[in-house]
Amino acid sequence: MSMHLLLTVLAVGVGAQEVYITKTGGSARPHCTAPIDSPSYFFQPFSFTLNETVRYATSVPSLTTTRKYGPAPTDALKHFTTRLSTTTWGSWLPGHTAVAASDTADPYGQAAWSSMWLSADLQNYTTTGIYSTTVSPTPVPRKELVLPPADYFSPTDCYDFPKDFVFGVAGSAAQIEGAVGLEGRSPSLLEKLIADDPMGVEYYSFTIPWTRILPFALPGTPVNKQAIDHYNDLIDTVLDAGMQPVVTMLHFDSPLLFFAGDNITRHPDIGFNNAGYQNETFVDAFVNYGKVLLTHFADRVPIWITFNEPLLYSFNFQGVDNVVHAHSRIYHFYHDELKGSGKIGIKFNDNFGVPKDPKNASHVAAANRFQELQLGFFANPIFLGKHLHEEYVGFLRHRPLHCDSRIPADGGVDACASNTSTANSLFPYCVKQETTNRYGWNIGYRSDSYVYITPTYLREYLFDIYNTWRHPVFVSEFGFPVYSEATKDLPDQLFDSPRSIYYLSFMSEILKSIYEDGVHVMGALAWSFVDNWEFGDYAQQFGIQAVNRTTQQRHYKKSFFDLVDFVKTRQPKQ
Ligand SMILES: *[C@@H]1O[C@H](CO)[C@@H](O)[C@H](O)[C@H]1NC(C)=O
Ligand SMILES: *[C@@H]1O[C@H](CO)[C@@H](O)[C@H](O)[C@H]1NC(C)=O
Ligand SMILES: *[C@@H]1O[C@H](CO)[C@@H](O)[C@H](O)[C@H]1NC(C)=O
Ligand SMILES: *[C@@H]1O[C@H](CO)[C@@H](O)[C@H](O)[C@H]1NC(C)=O
Ligand SMILES: *[C@@H]1O[C@H](CO)[C@@H](O)[C@H](O)[C@H]1NC(C)=O
Ligand SMILES: *[C@@H]1O[C@H](CO)[C@@H](O)[C@H](O)[C@H]1NC(C)=O
Ligand SMILES: *[C@@H]1O[C@H](CO)[C@@H](O)[C@H](O)[C@H]1NC(C)=O
Repeated sequence: MSMHLLLTVLAVGVGAQEVYITKTGGSARPHCTAPIDSPSYFFQPFSFTLNETVRYATSVPSLTTTRKYGPAPTDALKHFTTRLSTTTWGSWLPGHTAVAASDTADPYGQAAWSSMWLSADLQNYTTTGIYSTTVSPTPVPRKELVLPPADYFSPTDCYDFPKDFVFGVAGSAAQIEGAVGLEGRSPSLLEKLIADDPMGVEYYSFTIPWTRILPFALPGTPVNKQAIDHYNDLIDTVLDAGMQPVVTMLHFDSPLLFFAGDNITRHPDIGFNNAGYQNETFVDAFVNYGKVLLTHFADRVPIWITFNEPLLYSFNFQGVDNVVHAHSRIYHFYHDELKGSGKIGIKFNDNFGVPKDPKNASHVAAANRFQELQLGFFANPIFLGKHLHEEYVGFLRHRPLHCDSRIPADGGVDACASNTSTANSLFPYCVKQETTNRYGWNIGYRSDSYVYITPTYLREYLFDIYNTWRHPVFVSEFGFPVYSEATKDLPDQLFDSPRSIYYLSFMSEILKSIYEDGVHVMGALAWSFVDNWEFGDYAQQFGIQAVNRTTQQRHYKKSFFDLVDFVKTRQPKQ
């Protein structure tokens, strides 16, 4: 639920020519200038030398000026035609079984709020969140800020980041915060789909839970005062720490009330299922929620994201259409009515597929179709003003977007694409995904999940996105769960060379993409700033910090220092 730059090799068969090995030829030594003579051997005195240079990491300086990106809340709130009401509900704690509140006549009172938790029937809701407010940062002792030993091999680019490049780290509310039913939050879809308990826990990217801001979700229902206070506090804390906030409005945690009566289950591969809920009620409610956030926080937030990875919960054509419309209405409210001067966008998940044989038209068609269905669906109408392709609209109106794509497409893409029978389990993607190249090698070093280290394809990917949709590209989440990291002792977890290689090689390729390919990559956010809860799973550790879940103590991993150092040593010269 966090990768945007995974490479997936598409194949509808195996052809025969060398696309992979030409780029990575093993014996070239581009940095060798001197001719290699024969060795000469000689004796010398020996003494130990300390070969490590000790360097200390330092924090980003506090911001000297505070830029405003929109009107202050008092002015912004005038954009609501009817005044927003604000209230406070309290907390839903483990073991609550009865509703004590007597305000049963109030549709948005304490009793109505508690009954949402009761009817969610969460059998395994057993602990409270650890934090419900923003804790003050604990200063890190200087001895813990010594940079780790460098990896022997290092990136080869010679570029500095552009002045306005956005570099930061990302997390999401449900995956790092915890505060499950505290301070007026109501249940979201995630409570039903994943029964475990979430852990308490330059740009900091976080997400705001809809059900914490508007427990009753719909337009006209009261705003949760404690939630507004909390996010004001968080945003101000981020600014005080010298960082800038990037805010995502919806990160899988749709209000559970949209699913009343649905049989919600979790699909083993894609996450969510059985939720054909997204009608206009959803769109209006989401737009209202977006306006509540923008009117309260837009003055201090430079970058907004409406939806995170909508492909994973759009389910069908109607879902895609609703996401596009909701995004567009919020975008226009922000720019046209609120006159916001920051940026507002949308985050897509996309497994970039490359044809196994780029000279085979059928392979290329498969790769294009794969990209069209994952990204084009949303990006064509949003960025190019294009209508959704009639072919897809017709077929997908009543079909799920997801299917089991592990079965080979006999007969090729075209035959599969024109076979809309429900028995055709490859439809709609009609591709077979593989993660080995034509010679049977993995496409890259593998992680603990579906992510591989594939810098070789990153420039091609960014080039494709930028030149197809012609807007700045933001690498909004990228990260790597090192294989078996969770089973290692702490010192071994912290020395995470594979993650360093992942980040440094990707950042180096991003620079080449900017300077050599003319691609406007506006920024990159590492996922995630701390080991998180990966939807029911603590084993896939994506963090650049480890966290002790008993003591909440954090420890920087090597990759954190390496990544920050990489960016710091490539700042534009003033
Ligand atoms: C292209 O790929 C298809 C599907 O794998 C295969 O049937 C066909 O023979 C290939 N064509 C060429 C020219 O290699
Ligand atoms: C280690 O340090 C010595 C003395 O400073 C230097 O001559 C040598 O090249 C260093 N070796 C490496 C591998 O950096
Ligand atoms: C609750 O936890 C138990 C033990 O881990 C598990 O067997 C059960 O399926 C869980 N119930 C739900 C509704 O997830
Ligand atoms: C839309 O969905 C909501 C539940 O989420 C339902 O109450 C409402 O009747 C639906 N509206 C239409 C027009 O289908
Ligand atoms: C809910 O859906 C699951 C999976 O589709 C199915 O196995 C189960 O029987 C359904 N339960 C009810 C009560 O319909
Ligand atoms: C469509 O695909 C299904 C499942 O593979 C197959 O049984 C059926 O014959 C196909 N229909 C056509 C018209 O090819
Ligand atoms: C967490 O910290 C406690 C207390 O220092 C320690 O006993 C425990 O081993 C730590 N857990 C892990 C997984 O490192």
